[in-house]
Formats: sequence, structure tokens, C-alpha cells
Amino acid sequence: MEKGWVAVKRITVIGTGYLGAVHAASLASLGYEVLGMDVDAEKIAALAAGRPPFFEPGFDELLSEQVASGRLRFTDSYAEVAAFGGEERGDTVHFVCVNTPQRKGEYAADTAYIDSVIDKLAPLLDVPTLIIGKSTVPAGTAARLTSRLRALSPVGEQMRLAWNPEFLREGYAIEDTLRPDRLVIGVQDAESEAALREVYQPLIDSGIPLLVTDLATSELVKSAANAFLSTKISFINAMAEVCEAAGADVMQLSKALSLDPRIGGRFLVPGLGFGGGCLPKDIRAFMARAGELGADQALAFLKEVDAINMRRRARTIDLAREQCDGSFLGKRIAVWGAAFKPDTDDVRDSPALNVAASILLQGAQVTVYDPKANDTAAKIFPTLNYAESALEAARGANLILHLTEWREFRDLDPNAVGEVVAERRVLDGRNALDSDLWRAAGFTYRALGRPSAA
Ligand code: UDX
Repeated sequence: MEKGWVAVKRITVIGTGYLGAVHAASLASLGYEVLGMDVDAEKIAALAAGRPPFFEPGFDELLSEQVASGRLRFTDSYAEVAAFGGEERGDTVHFVCVNTPQRKGEYAADTAYIDSVIDKLAPLLDVPTLIIGKSTVPAGTAARLTSRLRALSPVGEQMRLAWNPEFLREGYAIEDTLRPDRLVIGVQDAESEAALREVYQPLIDSGIPLLVTDLATSELVKSAANAFLSTKISFINAMAEVCEAAGADVMQLSKALSLDPRIGGRFLVPGLGFGGGCLPKDIRAFMARAGELGADQALAFLKEVDAINMRRRARTIDLAREQCDGSFLGKRIAVWGAAFKPDTDDVRDSPALNVAASILLQGAQVTVYDPKANDTAAKIFPTLNYAESALEAARGANLILHLTEWREFRDLDPNAVGEVVAERRVLDGRNALDSDLWRAAGFTYRALGRPSAA
């Protein structure tokens, strides 16, 4: 085997969002010299100063530690990425972590950012180098990018490309990066596999399973995992719809199902449904790609999964209106939670924010409080009111909507909340509050998929 491919010392990480920034800092913590790169100069300046541009538990400490150690640096220059390692730059591998958003007006994923990384970097790579994609992409993208990379690099066919999908959950990003359930690598040659095994040796040594596949399978593993998780959530939310019609309690149903080890209880929590930067757009991109491949029938069910998920938002709004005696006009609504899930400040396709904004448009005065996401939410919905605490948001409210299940909301004393509201009504969009406690404090408690007295 050629020297160089199995002596990885330095790593660059291109794209420093939730995924890339955490990946870069985590690899630095394993002892590699890491250079993070992003075209957003403001983000790079913050990261280089040890300041995280987003909230992720534990990331603040990890970033400042690694920056202070000198192992982790940042740049906005492709030339620096290509030159990283100087004379020994052949021992450097490059991870690509840019996002692949939904194309405007379409279901398909937009791979323009990842294409642009290859277009800018490849001409500068004048020694044989391994590039590893981590972004979620339609099956077939890695093969296409390999041809593009080889056509644009001065060393042509000697360039290598591998795929290493990422399964990290926001809120657990560091844990999921350093202690993932599994590592999947899609490779085209033994040298890339050896280099990736070397990068992840500390994780492999700790017993984390490594699966080596071809490129297309590795791309599909990610799409399939997100499709399965979305389906599981929509399944229980479909059961919630049926429970609502039958007067049954979906929480009891979910508990009973979860005790069957073949089903399990994770991702079986009924409520407002899934959002975020991944699941919604990934199932749509998966359907679009299957259509291009002529396998659209195989994924037709994902359309239903998506529809069930979106109906939960509409149902929440309807239930809230019902609790406001049929109209939002002139009503004050407190919304607890703006992030798409707890422990993040990410509001991309957030069900909570989507509901808050719709209710505002229907004539209510809406005051939102989120422990971490007030600022990110205000950037996209400046017309909502934002409060500095849950109690402040609840002051004078005719109805409280609990839409993101932060621990802080579960820990509140319903009696104290009762003191500040205009009317004691709560709608639990996440089935996470203790209904007995809230009822004991005189609240009308309603939740999705449960009878009014459950
Ligand atoms: C997801 C995948 O879990 C991860 O593996 C992938 O790499 C990226 O997409 P993430 O978007 O961070 O991660 O969030 P996740 O924890 O999966 O939650 C997604 C959404 O589902 C959230 O809006 C959450 O509130 C919702 N959800 C989750 C439910 O409504 N019910 C559940 O039981 C679980």
C-alpha cells in the first residue's frame, strides 16, 4: 500500500454548521490537527475565538479547549485547506460537511454546496488525497462527485472519494460523534478504507461497530434511517388521530406498544411531530431520488408519513382554537418552546414556531419563550413577541401552548403559573407535562391523542 494513505495526521472539515463544527472539535479532541473551513467569515471568526455560533450542550467547553490546545484552527480559505500539512499534505484527509437543503419549490435535495466544494478544492489538490463526504445526499451523488473530482484535480485518477454518513442528533451531537451506535463507510478502494479506519481507530478500539459498504449503500443507509425514524413518529401520530376519533388515550397505547421489544419505545412519543433541518427534507429528497431511479412506488408511503406529520400541526391549531372558545381574535397565547426539539437553538422547520406563527396570523397575540431559541426564532419571525421566561410569556394568557419539551417546562410549578395567567388552560403539544399536577392546580389540560379527561 502506498505510504501516505494510512498515516492520517491532519484533517480538514469543510462546512462548520452543527455537524461540521462538532466533528472538527471532536476529531481535535482525539489528537488530530484539525482545520475547519467555512465560506461564512463571521462564523469562522466566532469559532476561531472559541465562541460557538449555535447552542449545543457541551460544545462551548469542547471548542474552547481544542482551540486553546492549538490543535483546532479555522479558515475561510480553500487555498489553506489544500495546503494544510505543507510538504506532507498527502497525509491530510478532507471531510465535507456542508448542508444539502431542500430545493426551492421541489422535493429534491440541493447539492449545489457540495458540488461547489469539489469545484473549488479539486483544482488545488496537487497530491493524491482522500475526500470524505458526510453530508446527506441522494444515492448516486458520491459516484458523480468522484468523476468531477478526478476531472478537476491535477492528479486526476489518483484522487479518492469515500462516504461516511452522519447520524448525529442535535442536542447529543458530541456524544453521537465520539460514541456513535455505528460507523458506516462507503468506499471504492482498500486505501480509503484503511485511511478511514485509521481516522476512527480510537472509536473502533472502544467497540463501535464499523460497516464497510459501497458508495450507494452508504448514502442509502442515511436516507433509510431517517425514513424509518420519521415513519415511527408518524405511525404513533396516526394512532393519535385514531385515538382522538375513538375517545382512546394514545399515551397508554404507546406505553403498551413500547413494552413489546420488537417495537420499542424510542421515537414512539406522540405529539406535534417531527421538524428540524433533517427528517422533513430528507424524506422528501429520498422520495424524489427514488422517483428518478424509477422506484417511486417503493417510497410512496413516505408521502403519507409527511402528511400525517403536517396534519399534527393543523390539529394543534384547531385544538388551541377550540380551547379559546372558537376564535383566536383578541386572545393572548403563550407559546412555550420555539426550537424544533429541546436542547438546541435550531428552529429550522420547527413545528412549535410554525404553530405560533399560524396562530398569530389568525388574530391572537402570541408571546413565545424558548430557553435557547428566542434569538434564532426572532430572526425568522420578528412579528411574534418574545419573553425572557416561561412565566413572563404566560402572564395574562388565555391559553398556554407547550410545544417543545424542554425540561425547564416540566419543572415549573403549575400553581405559580396559575397565578399569572388570565385563564388556566394548557395544551400540551408534546405529551410531556404531568396532567395530574396541572389539573390539580385548576388547569384545563388538553393533549394530542388523549380524551379531554385523560
Ligand atoms: C435526526 C436523526 O435522529 C439523526 O440520526 C440524523 O442524523 C439527523 O436527523 P435531529 O434532527 O437532530 O436528528 O432530531 P431527532 O432527535 O431525530 O428528532 C427529530 C424530530 O422528531 C424532532 O422534532 C422531535 O421533536 C420529533 N420526535 C422525536 C417526535 O415527535 N417524537 C419522538 O418520539 C421522537
